[in-house]
Amino acid sequence: MLEKNSQLLQVIHLRKNFGAIQAVKDVSFDIAPAEIVAIVGDNGAGKSTVAKVISGAYRRDGGEMLWNGGPYEPHEPDDARDIGIETMYQDLALVNDLDAAGNIFLNREPTRRLFRFLPLLDHKQMRERSAELLRRVKIELPSYDRPVRQLSGGQRQATAIGRILLSERARLIIMDEPTAALGVQEQRKVLELIRNLSDHGMAVMIISHNLEHVFTVSQRVIVLRGGEVAGIVSTAEVQKQDVVSLIMGGGA
Ligand SMILES: Nc1ncnc2c1ncn2[C@@H]1O[C@H](COP(=O)(O)OP(=O)(O)O)[C@@H](O)[C@H]1O
Ligand SMILES: [Mg+2]
Repeated sequence: MLEKNSQLLQVIHLRKNFGAIQAVKDVSFDIAPAEIVAIVGDNGAGKSTVAKVISGAYRRDGGEMLWNGGPYEPHEPDDARDIGIETMYQDLALVNDLDAAGNIFLNREPTRRLFRFLPLLDHKQMRERSAELLRRVKIELPSYDRPVRQLSGGQRQATAIGRILLSERARLIIMDEPTAALGVQEQRKVLELIRNLSDHGMAVMIISHNLEHVFTVSQRVIVLRGGEVAGIVSTAEVQKQDVVSLIMGGGA
């Protein structure tokens, strides 16, 4: 067991309602630094809601969260980003007409001054820095100056990752179904990427329906059912069938 204060994130008796719907009734779990944790559960189990409360998109109705042992109360996603929690949403939130470098630097563009008064986006610098960021996690994009609408699903995802890596603060990356829309080859790359992120000291919380992927990449699996924790298991110590039973409510 890790000491309490060595945890990166602690979620304690979390609760979130939407009117009469109790999306999250009572969810507690920890994430250690650089740990890869999977969240699984049937449709409607509360996975995305938990992720959105952690990432500051929703305000919780009960319970508490601790970040590095101190109180964590995000009011908006920027509060999460400021302390190092980055979220990759399923739609990736990319601007299709912009190139990869433009997306990675969106709203954070470096400018150089032309004739001292006309600010110019420094595209060369943005492309070089983008490529350098992605090389760190062993990703090569074929092009940094083509609109991202022309890139494959995996390359678009790599672009979203580049955005996250630009924030040097990132300590926890939340991914909601990152492999769902990808081909088999690119799915494998995403799993590799998740391991690379962890090797670079980042914890990853991955929500996935694919138990094959979950068992390949994660150290622990948190099973949600009906807004509650049905079980938390070490991937090395259980079989897929055990996790399926927890998801379905048949016991471990
Ligand atoms: N914005 C929302 N408004 C109302 N109900 C919601 C909203 N988001 C989720 N829910 C409900 O909360 C429950 C949990 O949803 P969700 O967290 O998306 O589950 P999962 O991601 O595990 O499929 C479901 O019953 C869902 O219909
Ligand atoms: Mg969901």
